[in-house]
Amino acid sequence: MNMHAQQMFSVLSICSYLLVFSFLAHPSTSALQSFVYAGCSQLKYNPGTPYESNVNSILASLVNSAAFSNYNNFNISFPGTDVVYGLFQCRGDLSNSDCHDCVTYAVSQIGTLCGGASGGVLQLDGCFVKYEKTSFLGDEDKTVVFKRCGPPIGFDSDVLTQRDALLAYLTGGGQYFRIGGSGNAQGIAQCVQDLNTSECQDCLLEAITLLKSECQSSTWGDMFLAKCYVRLSERVHTPKSGKQFHLRH
Ligand SMILES: *[C@@H]1O[C@H](CO)[C@@H](O)[C@H](O)[C@H]1NC(C)=O
Ligand SMILES: *[C@@H]1O[C@H](CO)[C@@H](O)[C@H](O)[C@H]1NC(C)=O
Repeated sequence: MNMHAQQMFSVLSICSYLLVFSFLAHPSTSALQSFVYAGCSQLKYNPGTPYESNVNSILASLVNSAAFSNYNNFNISFPGTDVVYGLFQCRGDLSNSDCHDCVTYAVSQIGTLCGGASGGVLQLDGCFVKYEKTSFLGDEDKTVVFKRCGPPIGFDSDVLTQRDALLAYLTGGGQYFRIGGSGNAQGIAQCVQDLNTSECQDCLLEAITLLKSECQSSTWGDMFLAKCYVRLSERVHTPKSGKQFHLRH
């Protein structure tokens, strides 16, 4: 059975962004550099302008900072030039070296994908990077940017009950990163850490509610909002570090 062909997906594009997608990666593969989604601002800057140097400085800052932190944000503005804002967020279970590798790769990709664009966003399995001309830092943005559902399995109540228990587990917490497993289902929830914990909780609740309503009878699915995401996958892949919980029935 070809799962790829059966993936259902839809996209709501964010304001002035053009979103590009690839479906090469099955959600259950754990390669940190697997592509999830990307978008580039339609607004361009002229090559050789100070804005270009600011973008390059921001991207370099993200890479440097990812060597010792799972999240950071920056703004860069040389006198008389437009400010550029940027941030990266690694998945909460990544080591500093995995985070650094992921952000390094993401920055190299976003440079290619969004060359000349005034803003860009790229989500890989292991990390998220974004830069933009207008500040988005601290904004709780619940726009759906990417979603997909596994094939419907009909109403196998045991499997769906297990899935919903896992989603309920992911709803609790107050952390920026949550992971849980139940049977052969695994769930991950992650916020971008410019949100405070109550905004994170609110964002994840929205993502989980949407995932449940969009992927009603699927065992796996992804719901990415602009500042948080929830992912359910079929196979348990053990993270290199971090906590793993198992629900008991
Ligand atoms: C840029 O970052 C600095 C240091 O974090 C902060 O104090 C400043 O308010 C930021 N500037 C803008 C325009 O957001
Ligand atoms: C989180 O941020 C929102 C919006 O800025 C604010 O209203 C709320 O009080 C903050 N909550 C906490 C727990 O800091």
